[in-house]
Amino acid sequence: MAAALRINPERLTEDLAGLSRIGLHEDGSVTRLAFSPAELRARQYVMHLCQRAGISVRLDGIGNLIARVEGDVTGEAAVAMGSHVDSVPRGGRFDGAMGVIAALEVVRTIKEAGTPLAHPLEVLVFVAEESSRFGVSTIGSSAMAGTVEPDRLLGLTDRMGHRLSEILARSGLTGDDVAAARRLPGEVGHYLELHIEQGRVLKEAGEQVGVVRAIAAPCRLKIRYQGRADHSGATPMDLRKDALVAAANLVTYVEEVCRAPGPVPVVGTVGMLDVRPGAINVIPGEATLWIDLRSIGLEARTACRDAVVARARALAAERGLTCSIDTLMDDPPVVLDSGTTEVLADVCATQRLAWRLMDSGAGHDAMQMAAITRAGMLFVPSDEGISHNPREWTSLPDIVAGAQVLLEATVRLATRAGRAGAVTR
Ligand code: HGY
Ligand code: MN
Ligand code: MN
Repeated sequence: MAAALRINPERLTEDLAGLSRIGLHEDGSVTRLAFSPAELRARQYVMHLCQRAGISVRLDGIGNLIARVEGDVTGEAAVAMGSHVDSVPRGGRFDGAMGVIAALEVVRTIKEAGTPLAHPLEVLVFVAEESSRFGVSTIGSSAMAGTVEPDRLLGLTDRMGHRLSEILARSGLTGDDVAAARRLPGEVGHYLELHIEQGRVLKEAGEQVGVVRAIAAPCRLKIRYQGRADHSGATPMDLRKDALVAAANLVTYVEEVCRAPGPVPVVGTVGMLDVRPGAINVIPGEATLWIDLRSIGLEARTACRDAVVARARALAAERGLTCSIDTLMDDPPVVLDSGTTEVLADVCATQRLAWRLMDSGAGHDAMQMAAITRAGMLFVPSDEGISHNPREWTSLPDIVAGAQVLLEATVRLATRAGRAGAVTR
């Protein structure tokens, strides 16, 4: 019977602390925006850890990190695991980063034990998972999975007007490089992602691990109202074309339509609002809002999107404004691979953990990887359910429990003993 491998909690803690120091603010939050110097330093830090562990590592044509330990049979599909190291502005130290370090710890532990591998192992660190900079999330994993065309990715522009193609060109990367990031069918046999829950289900239930069945993918809209900038004192109320009042009505409508009871919950957020010219004594001539709608149910989410679009247009007509509506993302919700989910669930049960099957309200790289491989996801609890916030916290025992499940599942999927079911029960 194969001796049960154990991850090294001290090393995992130390490596995660080192990553947390990159882009760290005095309040304990981190800012590592996609393709920023801080995010690049974070990827370089992980590269250094891989090299120190004697694991070969490279960056692909869009900047995803791929660290790899070969199996004893060439040509077999890899068992991959990972997450992201970019963050939202002033985000938490665990979102993405914990999953990357746990994945490295799992691969390192197996490599050090010399466990014979029927499949190669990979640690993947996806670039630009967060939508904070470009309004579009999971950019690196979309390129790897080929779920978004390279030209669409290259054309993404941030709020400063920087195009992704220009940003990549500074590192000598071209559209061909981005296209080459796409993995060939069969290269990756499984993708596993350990991530903080970012909600409060596990914490409130006193459970240690969540096995994710499905991921609510986002529909994201950018809606711009154009009216007429005018003098805030000299313009009578009935002669105004105030873009911000229309936008404000739409903000409350998004909440109203998502709060309405329905077969499947839909959540809606207006996380960004841009007002121009932005002066106290000028009636806003232009107002742009970015809307994020999420649900496990595509039909329910689409019904909300259609209602929001209809109301957006009605408000423009009522107020004599023009209104442009761009769909930034409209990804279908993703059901993860049932076989992989069963393996993860069986490991949790075998390890006698307090665990549950659950869905993910947040989006993840596993959504994209599910398009090209058998993807599975694990959650560990977030204290008070807080995330994207300096107070984001997950305890070490919970991280270790999640990483140990990731380790055992990887051994089962990647080793001959595991596949034969001979691995420690
Ligand atoms: O926005 C999200 O769902 C996650 O933070 N990527
Ligand atoms: Mn996030
Ligand atoms: Mn994340």
